[in-house]
Parts: sequence; C-alpha cells; structure tokens
Amino acid sequence: MLLFVYLIFCSGLIVSQCRLTTEDGCNLPAKGNSKFPSNFSFGVATAAYQIEGGWNADGKGLSLWDDFTHNYPHMIDDKTTGDVAADSYHRFDQDLAALKELKVTHYRFSISWSRIFPNGDISSRNQYGIDYYNNVIDKLEANDIQPIVTMVHFDLPYEIQKIGGFANPLFINQFVTYAIELFNNYGDRVKTWITFNEPLLYCKSGYGEANYPPQIHGAGLIDYICVDNTLKAHAAAYRVYKSKFFNTQGGKIGISLDSQFSISNDTALTHRAMQYNLGFLAHPLFSKSGGYPEVMVEEIRRNSLKEGRITSRLPDLDGKWKHIIKGSADFLAINYYTSRYISRAEKPIGENPSFERDYDLDESIDPKWKRGLSRWLYCVPEGLESILKFIRDEYDNVEVIVTENGWSDKGDLEDIERIQYLKSHLQAVLNAINDGCNVRGYMYWSLIDNFEWQRGYTVKFGLYSVNMTSPTKERTARNSVGYYRKVIETHLLS
Ligand code: GAL
Repeated sequence: MLLFVYLIFCSGLIVSQCRLTTEDGCNLPAKGNSKFPSNFSFGVATAAYQIEGGWNADGKGLSLWDDFTHNYPHMIDDKTTGDVAADSYHRFDQDLAALKELKVTHYRFSISWSRIFPNGDISSRNQYGIDYYNNVIDKLEANDIQPIVTMVHFDLPYEIQKIGGFANPLFINQFVTYAIELFNNYGDRVKTWITFNEPLLYCKSGYGEANYPPQIHGAGLIDYICVDNTLKAHAAAYRVYKSKFFNTQGGKIGISLDSQFSISNDTALTHRAMQYNLGFLAHPLFSKSGGYPEVMVEEIRRNSLKEGRITSRLPDLDGKWKHIIKGSADFLAINYYTSRYISRAEKPIGENPSFERDYDLDESIDPKWKRGLSRWLYCVPEGLESILKFIRDEYDNVEVIVTENGWSDKGDLEDIERIQYLKSHLQAVLNAINDGCNVRGYMYWSLIDNFEWQRGYTVKFGLYSVNMTSPTKERTARNSVGYYRKVIETHLLS
C-alpha cells in the first residue's frame, strides 16, 4: 500500500509530495557518526576581483572585469565596480585577523593574473604583484593556515581577452606560462592549486548568453569551445607541474566545478542531467573512458546535423587531448550552492542552438525551499549529499574538496539563516563521508562581504560584514563566525 501511495505521489502528478526537505526548508537529518575526521580541512574562500580593490595599484594591468564594470555599468545592479571593494590589496591584515579568529585550517583565495603579468604576457612581469601574494602566503604560513590558490577566478587580463580569451587556442600556452610563473614563485609554500573557477558558468554566460564579460553571443558553439580550451589549458598546466615541479614541490592540482543536483524520480533523467552539468568537465577529467559524456557527444552531434551543420558543435576530444586530459587532476573541487528539480522539456528542433536547447530539460524549485537574497539560491542541503554520492559512484571515489558553499542575505549581524544553511550543508558533507565519500575539506563562501559580480554590493555572503562606505573598511563578525569556529574547534555540529 505504501509503495502504491509513493508511486502515485511521485509519478509527476503530485510532485511536491515526493520532495525531500523538512518543514523549515533548510534542514538535514544526521546519518551516522557525528564527528568530522580529525584531518578534515575547514576553511573559507574569496576571489581577487571581489575583495582586493587596488585595480590599478603598483602596476596592475586591466582585467576583463575592470573593463566590464567601467564600460558597462548598467550591467551591474548598483552600477558599482571592484575598484576598491573590501580593499584587501591594502588591508590583508584585517582578513588575516578574521581567519585567525575563525581558526580555519585553510584559506582559498585567487591570484589576479593582471597583477603578475599586467598585459597577460610574461614580458610584462610585475614584481610588485608577485610580492603582494608572497606576503599573503608568508603570513598564512606564519599562522599555520594552508593556502588553496585559484589561478583564474573569472578575471582574465584584458589583453588576453582582446585576442579571444578562452575562445582562442593560443590561450592554452598563455595559461601554462602564467601557471609556471606561479609554481616558480609560490610552489614552495602552496600545496593545493586550483586552475580555474567554474568554467561552465563563465563559458555559458560569457561566451554563450553574453550576459557576463566578454559578452560574446555564441550559445551552443563558442561556449563549448571555451570549455574545450579550458580543459586543455588545465591539463597542459597539470602535466607541466607533474613533470617539472611535483618532485620538488609535492603539491596537488584540481579544478573548481559549479554543480547543482538534478532531482527527479527518473534516475536515468537525473543521470543524463548530471552528465550535462557536472559531467561536461568532470567526465573528461575523472571518468575511466575520458572524453565528453557519451550522451552529450551523441545528442549534440545529432542536433548539429539536424541544424544543417557538417560537424558537431561540441568539439571532438578524441585522440591526443582526450588522453592528456584524462586523469589530469588530483582532486575534484566543487562549488555547491543549490539544486533544481528537472523534467523533460522537448524543445522544438529548429530553435537557435544553445546549451539549454541541447540539455532540453525544464528546471523548477520546491516552494518549500528557503530562498536566499540571491534570486537563484535556495537551501537544498540534500542536493549536496546527492552530488557527493554521485561523484563517489561515477568517478571512482576521487578526492573531493567543497571549495564554495554559502548563503546571501541583506547583511544583518544576526544571521540565523546563514547558520542554518552552514549547519545543514556541513551535515550533508558529514552524511556523505559517513556513506564512504572521499570528501576532504569544506570552504565557506565567503570570508567577507565582497563585490558579488553583477549583483554588485547588493547581496552579502560574508561571515564578516565589511563597512564598504568607510575608508578603513572595518570587518565585523556576524553570529555565524562563532558558530563556524565552534564546529572547527570541536569537529562536531551543534
Ligand atoms: C560563485 C562564484 C563566486 C561567488 C559565488 C556566490 O559562482 O564562484 O565568486 O560570487 O558564486 O554568488
């Protein structure tokens, strides 16, 4: 009888009855051991353009985001820029004090390529920029905080963008030259590297839908080339590190992929959706067979031929590159914020090509899910647990670090919702570990309030509030700081 009721409710007719969240919409029941492993890494994350400011300080060159915010202010909700932001370029000591107060073991931050090579090329090497990050890394080391360094977090040098950025195959060598500079300068102290942050997002938005810089209209075509060059650049840098640096430096390299879990009662449909989302980049790197997910290869080829093309819009990863990319990461870093229900869309053939057209699924939310201030952000902790299990099963239980997870609000110091979100997502990680998932660390987004891309300063993700209107940009702890610190100290969720 119970099975009968379940089948009726979950048949898609009364979908809300099968949904998983508990009443307050941001909770997750505990399963198993209540303590995190003793060697689990707890940290926080930031990104250069979002916190540093100093946009032209000490010889820094123009980045893609400098150009975008300066020349297209109407694209930013409050027409602001990252010119000053939290001014971490001049005030890193304030960030360090916050990191120490939190007692984190790790700090994930990104390097601004245009501080190191102002015009993107090695010929413009800028010692001031190199010294800035040396200072950051030294101070972290002196305080026993391990750096996790992202090489590119959206802010490409403008000069590299001018010649096509990720759409130009030249990018592969430009990136490797930059990566070698970073290994040479920082590899003695940095043992965890992330090449790129959220390629699917910057490719789809920047090279497909044109609503992010560089605003290229190339949906279903140039965005796929962007993903392809990203994977090649990542893999080429990884191979150089392994052959020239690993023996002396002994670090590891990963890539941060944006992820959401695709929830449905149809496991085949969920599996297909996960291949298009996480799998687009994870399959070439972590699967046994390598290459793009078979379902994408087949379907995009079929769609392309129907559109009258002579080849698939999805580049062909066979041969040399497939081999170079496969296995070229020591861990999978995921940024998880939210999830969606999915159902078949069956969009008519003949529509303009796009990722969405190829993906061909409708997405929806559960009205019971609690929503953050960001329009897209709903609290769905079970989605994180499901993704971690998907990775365990699909990619041979590869090591995983959650490199972003966070909640946005208006900025009150009493941030009960952030604490709930943090707690339920840490619970998801713990449940997954208890279920055999190889998750080694969790980085909350973000340490401090920052420039939230097109949302400007209108939404706050920080554990610390930043007084953006004050010249000294004071950082003030929100209540979530006390909560997170206690978890870090005890390894227990209270
Ligand atoms: C991610 C991005 C971060 C941060 C976060 C919250 O996509 O990597 O930089 O902005 O979203 O919106």
